[in-house]
Amino acid sequence: MFDDQYSRLRRLRRNPTMRHMLRENRLSASEFIYPMFVVNGCGIRTPVEPMPGIDRMSVDVVTEEVHRAYESGVKAVLLFGITEEKDATGSKSSSPFEAVQQCVAAIKKSLPESFVITDVCLCEYTDHGHCGVVSGNAVDNDATLPRLAETAISHATAGADMVAPSAMMDGQIAAIRSSLNKNNYSDVPIMAYSAKYASAFYGPFRVAVDSAPKYGDRSAYQMAPSQGREAMREIEADLSEGADLIMVKPALAYLDVIKEASTRFDAPLAAYSVSGEYSMLAAAGKTGWLDRESAMIEVLTSIKRAGADLIVTYNAIEAADILAKG
Ligand code: PBG
Repeated sequence: MFDDQYSRLRRLRRNPTMRHMLRENRLSASEFIYPMFVVNGCGIRTPVEPMPGIDRMSVDVVTEEVHRAYESGVKAVLLFGITEEKDATGSKSSSPFEAVQQCVAAIKKSLPESFVITDVCLCEYTDHGHCGVVSGNAVDNDATLPRLAETAISHATAGADMVAPSAMMDGQIAAIRSSLNKNNYSDVPIMAYSAKYASAFYGPFRVAVDSAPKYGDRSAYQMAPSQGREAMREIEADLSEGADLIMVKPALAYLDVIKEASTRFDAPLAAYSVSGEYSMLAAAGKTGWLDRESAMIEVLTSIKRAGADLIVTYNAIEAADILAKG
């Protein structure tokens, strides 16, 4: 009837240039953070079995990899340490001789323009695999805080550009902030893993760093997947304690939380597309069940569309290379 007045949305989809011009959300390598697993030693590159394409790397190899990332446009990296000596309090987490501290120094020396972020947690360093100091069978929140603060200081001392506490202890941001300030690191920002869920998607990561809890699980400190509003309280708490950036983790199963956080809070928001998300695409791509590269870009776009400013992703370099090709 009113044929010439119909709104036809397809009209804007016919021309590829126009489709490109009208993109509401664009991905850029500059918003990717590339997580890396680091070990002490030399010339080491051992594959993480459930994460094909991802390796544990020694200082020299990591430094090369950071150059490779930088050349692809990925200028920020996030380091996770693997230790040879675990104990009950994760005492090695703050040692200047551990892989994270050594790598930070080496990377900043070799490529000062790179932005080096460090994960601050104890689970890679404790023999029981929990993210904090344990008393009985439970993690002791307040006894953990000074250990996390010491760890953050050791990272800042090594030259870290930003620290990222992921232990999900109450008050950890305040403890780390005040410690950084007292030690002349008031300029070092904190990216808080604020809304971090107890997720099955961390499985491959725990293989990579051998951090699966030896007993119990992390549900007494990480959030239950059922919680949406509680995530907002976690973020609010971290901001009030001095977090500079906030984070939602994992990403894909929590896009609603990312969206809600991005509309409610004015702080820069990161989303962590975790190891299990990487492994899912890797496995399905390997069997030919889906086109991995297209799916990867689609997932990253969904995280951006949900409102993340930064995306932590193991696909960072690959995605950057795909984006560069157009
Ligand atoms: C440390 C930490 C974990 C991840 C990041 N920091 C593991 C965990 O909480 O068990 C997971 C990252 C990933 O799966 O890629 N607490």
